[in-house]
Amino acid sequence: MQNFDYMTPTRLIFGKDVIGKLPEVMASLGKKVLLTYGGGSIKKIGLYDRVKELLKDFEIIELSDIRPNPKYDPSVLDGVRLCKANDIDVILAVGGGSVLDCSKAIAAGAKYNGDPWDLISYKVKAKAALPIVDIITLAATGSEYDCGGVISRTETNDKIGYMDPLLYPVCSFLDPTYTFTVSKKQTAAGCADAMNHIMEQYFCEDSTLLNDGFMEAGLKSLMVNARKCLANPEDYTARAEMMLTCTYGCNGIYSLGNSYTGWPCHGMEHALSAYYDITHGEGLAIITPRWMKHILNEKTVGRFVKYGVNVFGIDSSLDDFEIAEKAIDATYSFFESIGIPMHLRDVGIDESRLDEMAHHVAENEGLDNAWAPLLQKDIAEIFMASL
Ligand code: NZQ
Ligand code: ZN
Repeated sequence: MQNFDYMTPTRLIFGKDVIGKLPEVMASLGKKVLLTYGGGSIKKIGLYDRVKELLKDFEIIELSDIRPNPKYDPSVLDGVRLCKANDIDVILAVGGGSVLDCSKAIAAGAKYNGDPWDLISYKVKAKAALPIVDIITLAATGSEYDCGGVISRTETNDKIGYMDPLLYPVCSFLDPTYTFTVSKKQTAAGCADAMNHIMEQYFCEDSTLLNDGFMEAGLKSLMVNARKCLANPEDYTARAEMMLTCTYGCNGIYSLGNSYTGWPCHGMEHALSAYYDITHGEGLAIITPRWMKHILNEKTVGRFVKYGVNVFGIDSSLDDFEIAEKAIDATYSFFESIGIPMHLRDVGIDESRLDEMAHHVAENEGLDNAWAPLLQKDIAEIFMASL
């Protein structure tokens, strides 16, 4: 078991209609609020009006239209300008992971006298950030319980995961009823994203029985509940369990004391969504089984056996490689069964830029240092196999 230093300062308020507590939470943080949101889903579900009503005694400035795979320009830059011009005290992010991620970059940029990209690209370490509160409306990223955000810069095809302990939300409101309207496509993509967050931690050299059990239960919970949510989008219990399982995803709690893995599928997917603006969870679902096949060998097979037997119930008396192959096939079949397009061509990616993306990943993501190291040629082969 490895040493660790762990703290999550985020308050989670979970359940039906918990946003009644929003004014009390916000009051301790200031009067001037930057309300951030996406393309309009929060208006359709009545959440925008409810927030405005609850915060009628606050001064609210708005930043809307934050897109999936949130963009540095215009969203982060506009948000930083609004914060500085209006002397904002606190950011309230209402929406999916993209809105919250963008808000985290804005929170740091608002307290920095320079180009916010300096912070996102780790050229400069932030010294302060505005406090962030969020109401998450999509179960997927776990951004509500971690200190990271992923920002895209279109002109350089960069999609960078930016983490800083200053960026933990002060408080996250999790009301599963707000996820009833999430489309089948986004429900499935969210499930695949959260499953991959667990897999990125599960496939490693050094783990514990405790962590393995926690992660195996997380994977099973996501698969069972995603099916229920797709069959009945207003199944409260299924949406609720899915939401909490996703919330744990990226905050490290699943793998305290585990060894480093390198998060290879995320490293590769970030290039796909940077170059082609695809849905993050779909890109991950496409890559994951191909990555698994590519790295399966004598050294890695043991983890696949454990995964196959404990997550998919594969017969443990079979040969190790047979179990591993069956586990990889089961992973693929599950994603396919929840309606995810399972080829890059299905999401508009052809072979023309695969080598360029593989080069970009190899240069920027440090995957030669992952649990199963990947060089540029490995990344290119995984992309090619995903076509
Ligand atoms: O823009 P609106 O109108 O709000 O619509 C959104 C968007 O079109 C819609 N949506 C959200 N809540 C809804 C809803 N539609 C109906 N009802 C609701 N209740 O869903 C669409 C997708 O939203 P988005 O926020 O992009 O999805 P998600 O939460 O999956 O976030 C994806 C982003 O998070 C990053 C990804 O790379 C991607 O950029 N990630 C962030 C992580 C983190 N901070 O820890 C970790 C992840 O690995 C991931 O990389
Ligand atoms: Zn992810």
